[in-house]
Amino acid sequence: MDVGIFIPIGNNGWLISTTAPQYKPTFELNKTIVQKAEYYGFDFALSMIKLRGFGGQTEFWEHNLESFTLMAGLAAVTSRIQLFATAATLTLPPAIVARMASTIDSISGGRFGVNLVTGWQKPEYEQMGLWPGDAFFHTRYAYLAEYAQVLRDLWNTGRSDFKGDYFTMDDCRVSPTPQADMKVICAGQSDAGMAFSSQYADYNFCFGKGVNTPTAFAPTAERLIQANAKTGRAVTSCVLFMVIAADTDEQARERWELYKAGADQEAIAWLADKGAADQSPGSNMRQMADPTSAVNINMGTLVGSWASVANMLDEVASVPGTQGVMLTFDDFVQGVEDFGEKIQPLMTSRQHINLLKETA
Ligand SMILES: Cc1cc2nc3c(=O)[nH]c(=O)nc-3n(C[C@H](O)[C@H](O)[C@H](O)COP(=O)(O)O)c2cc1C
Repeated sequence: MDVGIFIPIGNNGWLISTTAPQYKPTFELNKTIVQKAEYYGFDFALSMIKLRGFGGQTEFWEHNLESFTLMAGLAAVTSRIQLFATAATLTLPPAIVARMASTIDSISGGRFGVNLVTGWQKPEYEQMGLWPGDAFFHTRYAYLAEYAQVLRDLWNTGRSDFKGDYFTMDDCRVSPTPQADMKVICAGQSDAGMAFSSQYADYNFCFGKGVNTPTAFAPTAERLIQANAKTGRAVTSCVLFMVIAADTDEQARERWELYKAGADQEAIAWLADKGAADQSPGSNMRQMADPTSAVNINMGTLVGSWASVANMLDEVASVPGTQGVMLTFDDFVQGVEDFGEKIQPLMTSRQHINLLKETA
C-alpha cells in the first residue's frame, strides 16, 4: 500500500481546535516534514489549495501558502518522493497549469503530478470575482472534463486545438512537455466526481470515515470500481486519514478528546454553512461539514497505540480498489517520525519499505 502525506500548507493543519498545536504554514516547516517523509519511505506528498479560511478564534485556514510554488520549492530539496500540487481550476487557465506542471516536472526530475479541484467553497472565488454563479455546482465536472482534456493534449503532444463549451484552444503550445507520465488526481465523491475520476484521473482521493473504523470507506471505493466498469480504466482510491498515535491507546485517546473539547465552533459553523451550499448527489461535502465531529473536518481518524494504528492501516490496505492512504497528523513533524520509527515497521502492508530500510 502506498503512503502519502497531506502537508500542512494552511495554519494548524486539519484540526479546527484551540487545544491542538497552533502554527502558521512556512516553507521551512513543510521542507522538514517532506524531507523526513522521504527519509521514511513515504511515497508522495500533496498540498491542497485554499484561498479563504473559516475564521473563528483559531483563524482556521486564514493563512495558506500557494500550492504550485510550494511544491516547486520542495521539488528542489527532495530527490525521490512523488509530489502533487492542487490546481484551483477556476483561477488558472489549463495552458498555464500545464506549463507550471512541466516546470516542476523539470525541477523534480519527473516526480510531479496535479490534483484537480473544481472548488466547493464559493467565498474563495467570489472574493476575486471568479465565481461563475451557483449553476456551477451542477456543471463543475463538465468544466473539469474539458480542463483535463486540454491538459492531457498539451502534456502528451505539446499542443491543443480543443474546442468546447468552456475552453477554446487555437494551436496552443506547451514545450517542454513533461519527461514523466503526468499523474492526475481528483477527489470526486459525488456521482459526477466519480465519473470524472474514472475517465480522466489516475487516482481518486476519498475521505476515510469515522473514528477507528478503517474500512468504513469501502462503499466509496466500491463506487469507484463501478464507475471504472463504465470507462474501462483502473483508477484506484487513495484514502484520507488523520493519525493520532501514542505509546498506549489511552494516551492517544486522551489527546483526541482534548482536541475535540477545544473545537473552534465559530470556524466549524462557517464550514457547515459553506459546505451545505452544494447538494450534488453523493458529495462528501455533507460528511466534511457535519457539525457532530467537525474538529478535523470529519476525516477518518485512527486513534491508538503504534500497534493499534499499524493494524488499522493494514485493514485499510485490505479493501478492494485501495491504492494507498494519505495521512495527516496532529503534530506533523513528530507524527511523521513516529510513523516511520514505530508504526510502519509493524505494518504488513509496508514490508517492502521495511525490507528496503533494513538492507540500506
Ligand atoms: C484528499 C482531498 C484533497 C482535497 N483537496 C482540495 C483542495 O485542495 N481544494 C479544494 O477546494 N477542495 C479540495 N478537496 C475537495 C474535493 O475537491 C471535492 O470538492 C470534494 O471531495 C467533494 O467531492 P465532489 O466535488 O465530487 O462532491 C479535497 C478533498 C480530498 C478528499
